[in-house]
Amino acid sequence: MNSSTRRARIISTGSYIPERVLSNDDLSRMVETDDEWIRERTGIGERRINTSMKNHEMAVIAAKRALEASGLSPLDIDLVIASTVTNDNYTPALACHVQAGVGAKNAFAFDINAGCSGFVYALDTASAFISASRPGTRQVNNVLIVCSEVLSRITDYTDRTSCVLFGDGAGAAVVCADSEHGLLSSYIKTDGTGADSITAPALTSVIANDDGTIENNPDKITEGLKMNGRKVFTFAVKAIPEALSEALKAADVTADELKYVIMHQANIRIINSAVERLGIDPEKAPVNIERYGNTSSASVPILLDELNRAGKLQRGDKLAIEGFGSGLTYGAAIIEW
Ligand code: UT7
Repeated sequence: MNSSTRRARIISTGSYIPERVLSNDDLSRMVETDDEWIRERTGIGERRINTSMKNHEMAVIAAKRALEASGLSPLDIDLVIASTVTNDNYTPALACHVQAGVGAKNAFAFDINAGCSGFVYALDTASAFISASRPGTRQVNNVLIVCSEVLSRITDYTDRTSCVLFGDGAGAAVVCADSEHGLLSSYIKTDGTGADSITAPALTSVIANDDGTIENNPDKITEGLKMNGRKVFTFAVKAIPEALSEALKAADVTADELKYVIMHQANIRIINSAVERLGIDPEKAPVNIERYGNTSSASVPILLDELNRAGKLQRGDKLAIEGFGSGLTYGAAIIEW
């Protein structure tokens, strides 16, 4: 295969969803809200909360499921890319735990933090490594992507404008070099001027004072996630059609040719608006937001795994995937399955 024909093809998927359900009624006992408001304004009925595991334990389960379905040995994996905004640690990277957890001894591993666009960014990155492989550089044929989020650990459960949205979960995919099918195009962008629209401050255990003294931070609990929901909503309804239109154009594919448009599950109204603006049949935009809420970068690979395991994806099908989120990041990709 020469580099121009080395496409990045998703050959298998996996996911992990925590068991514990947090319903809208549960939330209505914590903040002033109710099931009707949450369903109408977001499309969410319930979300899952991880109560006992580290993020990397969830990530390893999802990754093992994708690996098992791929038929590859963990030793075949050259690169592990993990996407998260809720890693257990500043360092090491989540991907290093996954590399060890699945036994991908021959792989190098790193994280990306691109908010809810993480899966689209990771696929684009995997594709870049696969197509750039040439003598003298690290040969990358098989990539394990895992997006794993424990948003419940940074959610502020006193803030009704954000706590109703988020849930926990992990999704994974094995991506391989292929001469025929795979990623046809991608369009990824960032608008850092909107960086303050969604923030979760870093946790500092010490404070360095101006006089050079260092003391333990008495208030080392992070403030939790803060979000300007309306600003993000306005951004998303413009960014998604832009990303999808540009990715379709670059792939020379029309919206009618797509079997599915797999969108980041953030708000049903955002999904409906994008579908309408792009003139896409709503049947082509599957949703699971009712059950899981917004699981950030895990939302697209979880939904992809549901479709895949239900036998709804056939070789050669054209799909679009899309993500947007903190950063502000956004992007879309066109895939030939
Ligand atoms: O992955 C990316 C992450 N973020 C997003 O995707 C967020 C995008 N934004 C959104 O999904 C929506 O903006 C929200 C769901 C966050 C909010 O929906 P909205 O329709 O934009 O509501 P709003 O902020 O305009 O608020 C309307 C009203 C307000 O009351 P007043 O001022 O009109 O009296 C809010 O205080 O709804 C109130 N409100 C609530 N009421 C009951 C806000 N949150 C709640 C709630 N329950 N949970």
